[in-house]
Amino acid sequence: MPDESLGVRSGALVTASDRPTQPVNLLDFEPLARARLSHMAYEYLSGGGGNEVTLGLNRARLDAILLQPRVLAGAGAIDTRIEMFGRELPHPILLAPTAFHKLFHPEGEIATARGSAAAGATLVASTLSTTSIEEIARAASGPLWFQLYVQRDRGFTRELVERAEKAGCQALVITADTPVLGTRDRERRAGMALPPGLEMANLRGLAAAAESGRPFHENIYNPFLAPDLTWKDVAEIRSWTKVPVLLKGILAPEDALLALEHGAAGIIVSNHGGRNLDTAPASIDALPRVAEAVAGRVPVLLDGGIRRGTDVIKALAMGARAVLIGRPYLWGLAVDGANGVRRVVEMLLSELEIAMAFCGAARPSEIDARLLWPGDGR
Ligand SMILES: Cc1cc2nc3c(=O)[nH]c(=O)nc-3n(C[C@H](O)[C@H](O)[C@H](O)COP(=O)(O)O)c2cc1C
Repeated sequence: MPDESLGVRSGALVTASDRPTQPVNLLDFEPLARARLSHMAYEYLSGGGGNEVTLGLNRARLDAILLQPRVLAGAGAIDTRIEMFGRELPHPILLAPTAFHKLFHPEGEIATARGSAAAGATLVASTLSTTSIEEIARAASGPLWFQLYVQRDRGFTRELVERAEKAGCQALVITADTPVLGTRDRERRAGMALPPGLEMANLRGLAAAAESGRPFHENIYNPFLAPDLTWKDVAEIRSWTKVPVLLKGILAPEDALLALEHGAAGIIVSNHGGRNLDTAPASIDALPRVAEAVAGRVPVLLDGGIRRGTDVIKALAMGARAVLIGRPYLWGLAVDGANGVRRVVEMLLSELEIAMAFCGAARPSEIDARLLWPGDGR
């Protein structure tokens, strides 16, 4: 043991006293974030729907898939680059849209945008950001997409889409899985509402925005979600913008086919981080059938429970082009602002590189179902 009283510290040794402040993986950030957040913010960040069965399955089902190591494959120089919508990305990790970053850090989405760019990740900015899309775009030197919660006021929704494109967002992600909020008991008990001083900055001017300080779960119909959204809207929204339009929240292969019919340029397999319909399947379990239905026509992405490089390689092996992370980068944001976001992505990326080396895959194009233990997804 190094004797700290003498100031002897080895760079290679992490002492017991260092451990709480020296996260070495994504999960290490969680307790550190919890210690910094208000009870309400922590419950909002962490919670899932109902009994949190789906929330738990997202992790458990990823853990249960086994990888098939390969030896002497000479995967010397790992290259994680991928291509999506005609652009090259340095790696297949994106930041999922999440609301209200100023609940987690005073610099909010600006810090997230800086951290994301520093780590070469694509940031999908939420409609429900506490910073406007124009300000986020000014801070974002990396790739930026915009997530759309269609508003009941379709004229306002159209303006929002046009604003996002004008600000430089390179893709539009329509969240399709949230006509109402899930029964999120933890955030209900914690009285989740936007604290005074925080606003839904993209929704300024919308009549419903005046209600942003009210408890979110007063009524099953949330003022910021359109419960009447249908496939017809998707076709119409596509006509408002030139950027690729993805649909987020697809779990059924039938819906993936409908998405293609209605012109989706990409599909995000997601159960909203287990926050919506409890006892919906883990997103990793839904992925193979969706990927099979899509048959390579558009990129399929996945989120839900991605915490380790091995999770990323499993998703890619089962048909995803890329993955998104939600809660982990919010832990990083809470702990250390932009730097925390950057570190979370970098840790996940370096774990992905390690997993690729063990599985004998030098690049994402070499990752397929042969990397999975027989019976686990192949
Ligand atoms: C605090 C929080 C806020 C979220 N806000 C949004 C949102 O505004 N729009 C959206 O489409 N999804 C939202 N999501 C869902 C995420 O985009 C994503 O699907 C999910 O977090 C992925 O699972 P993970 O947290 O296990 O990585 C939110 C998730 C969390 C945890």
